[in-house]
Amino acid sequence: MTPLIRMERISKAYRGVPAVREVDFDLRPGEIHALLGENGAGKSTLTKMMAGVVAPSGGRILLEGAEVRFATPSAALAAGIAMVFQETSLIPSMTVAQNLYLGSERFLNRLRGTYISAQQFLQSLNFPVDPAAMVDTLGAAKRQMVEIARAVHHNARVIIFDEPTASLTPEEKRHFFALLARLKTRGVAIVFISHALEEALQISDRITILRDGERVAQGDTADFDREKIIAAMVGRTLSGALYRKRSPDSLRKPGRKVLSVQDISQGRMVRNTSFSVFEGQITGVFGLIGSGRTETFKIVAGITKRDFLRGGTITLDDRPVRYLTPAAAVADGIVYVTEDRKTEGFFETMSVAENLFGGLLAAPHHRAAIISLAEMRALAADWTARLNVKAIDDSARVVELSGGNQQKVVIGKGLVQKPRVVIFDEPTRGVDVAAIAEIHRIINNLADSGLAVVMISSYLPEVLNLSDRILVCRQGRIVEELSPLEASEEKIMYAAVH
Ligand SMILES: Nc1ncnc2c1ncn2[C@@H]1O[C@H](COP(=O)(O)OP(=O)(O)OP(=O)(O)O)[C@@H](O)[C@H]1O
Ligand SMILES: [Mg+2]
Repeated sequence: MTPLIRMERISKAYRGVPAVREVDFDLRPGEIHALLGENGAGKSTLTKMMAGVVAPSGGRILLEGAEVRFATPSAALAAGIAMVFQETSLIPSMTVAQNLYLGSERFLNRLRGTYISAQQFLQSLNFPVDPAAMVDTLGAAKRQMVEIARAVHHNARVIIFDEPTASLTPEEKRHFFALLARLKTRGVAIVFISHALEEALQISDRITILRDGERVAQGDTADFDREKIIAAMVGRTLSGALYRKRSPDSLRKPGRKVLSVQDISQGRMVRNTSFSVFEGQITGVFGLIGSGRTETFKIVAGITKRDFLRGGTITLDDRPVRYLTPAAAVADGIVYVTEDRKTEGFFETMSVAENLFGGLLAAPHHRAAIISLAEMRALAADWTARLNVKAIDDSARVVELSGGNQQKVVIGKGLVQKPRVVIFDEPTRGVDVAAIAEIHRIINNLADSGLAVVMISSYLPEVLNLSDRILVCRQGRIVEELSPLEASEEKIMYAAVH
């Protein structure tokens, strides 16, 4: 069978350093081709060349046998190649419907019609997104849904999904995979980039693995298993399973109660929720999209405000607090590490060092201090080493890092503040297997050193494996507390849904 697309010895270098080296890659009509590799391996770069976002520095691309060069993403789209980006490319100040039809302007003129057809289209995909909502009011998962819908709407022949499932719930994932199956029967060729190896094994026909910009394995999915993939990705075998069931003696006992939340409410998202957080343990928080889990903790961290009337009370060390800004919460030692790294996590045009430095500035004991350039470099070097942040060189802007490495910078930035209460929101989203183990180690160490750690996650094995206690959030409220010893994926899911 002639491939729809063939990339021959394709390369990309940034400032002379190769990010992708002489990779051969091809895509057949009606196949799902999983593209795997560690953070920074070159997955996004390779596919961006296919989608006209990045110009290759060497090699060639053939579309149905004829050489093509896409100068822009719209040129690629015109040839039938669409890409759903890992970092959202939606326009925040426009509505969902406007974003969906961006490019087909005639729809914009008939606004009402746009909303109705967008509503029907989103419904046909089983995506619960309000077409009239402004994109900047949506959480990461819903933005991802809009991105996916947009690519499908363009009737592309090739669709590249760069980590489409990272923030979807199991239910939404099922819908998404059913959608992929439908696209496949229509002959659409699909690239599926993911760190969820089980999903890749389950849904793909072929697998290509990159390491340090080079292709290290390619073949039929039937010839791979998890161990083989990991060995090819990291070039060695990782010992031990990532997720193990907790044993009774591994549970941390609750320390002093630092934070107590009573009946807080905010609009329709947070309704009369109450819970406490203790020092020296990890409080895991699970909830479906729209359950209010992120909104609840953003109130705690001063990022959003609770209702002025009947908004409830929050006490920190028995002292009632009401933060008007995140900086005020940080000054009290409460730090929120965002799930939405693109819009809230960092200043993308600044370097890694400057971003970490920005974090330190907000730390209470450094508020008035001026840090020298040398100190700043040392600090950055320390954290990039501790978190194993990989970049092409020292001066890399954060926007130039791979997705997973950006996540590590966001975490580093939070920890530089030396918090007492640290709230992680989806800490390992988009992070590769080796780095997940690393981030889990960091989170465990923080709890061991006495911090009150909150970890919001929609990945059940992560919740079960890391938490000392599990809070389940549903319809704006914490509805259940479970011990990881008695909990199972089914029990948590049941509490989150019923
Ligand atoms: N615009 C850029 N300027 C400089 N370096 C870049 C740029 N874009 C990517 N890189 C570098 O190229 C390498 C490959 O990055 P890429 O984003 O393709 O990785 P990835 O496999 O998609 O990783 P992840 O799983 O973290 O998303 C990384 O070292 C990254 O820092
Ligand atoms: Mg990437």
